[in-house]
Amino acid sequence: MSRLDIKKDLLLGTAGSATQIDGGDFGHTWNLWYSAGKIRDGSDPAVAAGHWERWRSDAMLMARMGIQTCRMSIEWARVEPSEGCFDEYAIDHLKEELMLLNGLGIRPLITLHHFTNPVWFEVCGGWDEPKNIVYFLRYVERMVRRLGHLCDDYITINEPNVYALNGCRDGIWPPGKKSMQSAMRTMSVMASAHIRAYRLIHRIRSEMGLRGTRVGVALHMRAFAPKNKANPAHCAAAALSERLFQTQLAEAVTLGKFAPPLRDYSRSRPGRYCDFHGLNYYTRSTVTGLKDGVRLYSARSDLGWEIYPQGLVECAQKLMRICSLPIYVTENGVCDNNDAFRCRFIFDHLAAISRSNLPFERYYHWSFLDNFEWLEGCSARFGLVEVDFATMERRVKKSGRFYSELIKQREVTQELYDEFLAMESYHH
Ligand code: BGC
Repeated sequence: MSRLDIKKDLLLGTAGSATQIDGGDFGHTWNLWYSAGKIRDGSDPAVAAGHWERWRSDAMLMARMGIQTCRMSIEWARVEPSEGCFDEYAIDHLKEELMLLNGLGIRPLITLHHFTNPVWFEVCGGWDEPKNIVYFLRYVERMVRRLGHLCDDYITINEPNVYALNGCRDGIWPPGKKSMQSAMRTMSVMASAHIRAYRLIHRIRSEMGLRGTRVGVALHMRAFAPKNKANPAHCAAAALSERLFQTQLAEAVTLGKFAPPLRDYSRSRPGRYCDFHGLNYYTRSTVTGLKDGVRLYSARSDLGWEIYPQGLVECAQKLMRICSLPIYVTENGVCDNNDAFRCRFIFDHLAAISRSNLPFERYYHWSFLDNFEWLEGCSARFGLVEVDFATMERRVKKSGRFYSELIKQREVTQELYDEFLAMESYHH
């Protein structure tokens, strides 16, 4: 049995996003994508995991499992269903949810944008238009003024690179464009919006007399590796992919340094625009060119993604080279439909963290509930808690029990190992 001791100051939590769990149809981009028949298994995001009705019992379950911090997001289209008109009832609902989480001792981390736009925003040109940043800032301001006293920690935007490449270069996500130019502009606009939102959130919270504000971006990072280390073309492709996909973006959002093809629309000086590195890590890409590839014979998730725990630390090291900041693993998880190897996945990633000497402060497992996994729909299961999508009943999986024990015990004892890990292995 290999050892795992979790450092005292590493908070263990779970992550989720509004579109993926809440349900509701108020004209957002994924409601439209579903209506156009683009979800592989036909799942409807208007149903999702029914969390908007079950928020109380979900929070109580989280508390019973000992979850220390919860990353949640706000559905922009729900709180601002038409341009400039805010739904105060929906905001009050979020306020109650935050109050309950705080009351239960679960520290919230709010994501303000997680892939989904209100349709009215998309109609104005969405993230492809620098002038639209002001719409995002107005929404952010409203949220922070109304909810800021209940939450210190914010992610402005989740994974600008994934949004821009899937939605604007490959056209497989909303808004469904196929243009490299649009993808690069979108990434630039999102990075610029982050910088302005960073300053805004700090200003508003300090006007409100609140301290301890922490703002960042959740960056999707992969470990990039050449398929054949001895092949210079593979090595060059790995280095270039890494730079274009993530490093340039990380420099832009963290330091306000925009290298071409990214462009700064924030009119800011270089400085520091993140209080932590938000790192979403899932897998490694083994490349021969500018396309993703998976290493032969590697351990894989049910979606075919390589499981490579050390990559989490490699990516964190790269962020630390840009700037030294506390590290929050804002997402890490696995599609494991039968919950056959999730305990091992958690163990291996937390072990990689605990072996490193980097300043990891938080780990958010993706995700708390089985949920609406974008194009895959509800059939790709990432949750620690199973959702029966017919009845919406929740059942804590074996991996959920393991995570809960880890939070309580902060180490893997022989007993825990025998109960949860001894029989688990990855498939290849
Ligand atoms: C996204 C999540 C998604 C997860 C698993 C991340 O890129 O932020 O919304 O569910 O990956 O695919």
